[in-house]
Amino acid sequence: MEEKKKKDGEGKNIKELAKGTQVWKAIFGDLLFGEFKPFSPINSLMRGIAKIMQLHPYNMSVGGKRIIMYTFCLGGLSVFFFALLSCTGAFLMIYYNPDVNKAYANVEDFRYIVPFGILIRNMHRWTAHLMVMFVSLHMLRVFLTGAYKPPRELNWIVGVILLVLTMLSSFTGYLLPWDQLAYWGVTIGCSMGENAPLLGAKGPFALLESGKDVNSILVGGAAVGQPTLLRFYLLHAIALPLGITGLMGFHFWRIRRAGGVSGPL
Ligand code: HEM
Repeated sequence: MEEKKKKDGEGKNIKELAKGTQVWKAIFGDLLFGEFKPFSPINSLMRGIAKIMQLHPYNMSVGGKRIIMYTFCLGGLSVFFFALLSCTGAFLMIYYNPDVNKAYANVEDFRYIVPFGILIRNMHRWTAHLMVMFVSLHMLRVFLTGAYKPPRELNWIVGVILLVLTMLSSFTGYLLPWDQLAYWGVTIGCSMGENAPLLGAKGPFALLESGKDVNSILVGGAAVGQPTLLRFYLLHAIALPLGITGLMGFHFWRIRRAGGVSGPL
């Protein structure tokens, strides 16, 4: 009996060990356990991670070959624009200061002083417009091809949240140059929040009182000012990009779980 228990225990341990080894092998497979090829470590690591995360399906339907013409790669292009926005945004962050006395001058500096500043700033602006356009077109494509139907309903909902976050990114970025257009645009945008259903103090079915509603949280005071600029900057440069990145990961994982992109079969 004692011996059997020991054996079972041992068996369990070995099983657990083997599980660990499999994961280890899947990630570092070719690098540690296969034949070593110079320059291949990064390649094999990426393949291993893709295998573990189940990023792409093992099989592809015959119709899948026509997938680019079917989806127009609108989702993929949205990912590309997001990556470009992150890179150009990181560059702009080096010179931009979210201070009401400095922000406008910083933005002017991009035009006249910072090397390649005008190029990077315009790339950031135009890519932001393109991303809103392409995410909307991607949504239209998903709707027209009926790709929102089971088993993809949850991904449609995730997509709607991604669209809202993309638009919020544009809205929060609009205030950052701190010029007249930005100031009054955001003043109007935020006061619309006051009349929003449920979350606005004056909106239908208001749940929150004045001073604690979505408008007050965004503005951070009686009028648009320094607290608003700081809030919008943090939302624009940290919270929204992190939220979009996380949800994109979930979006892709759901596509994988649904057996890949739906397509002409
Ligand atoms: C930041 C925004 C978004 C990104 C980066 C993104 C990315 C992607 C990518 C790369 C695909 C693979 C197929 C393709 O390229 O068309 C995809 C599929 C899908 N997306 Fe999005 N998407 C976004 C927003 C949305 C929105 C707004 C919706 C709808 C409300 C949506 C719903 C879906 C659905 C249901 C699929 C599966 C389609 C199928 O299997 O044919 N996505 N998305």
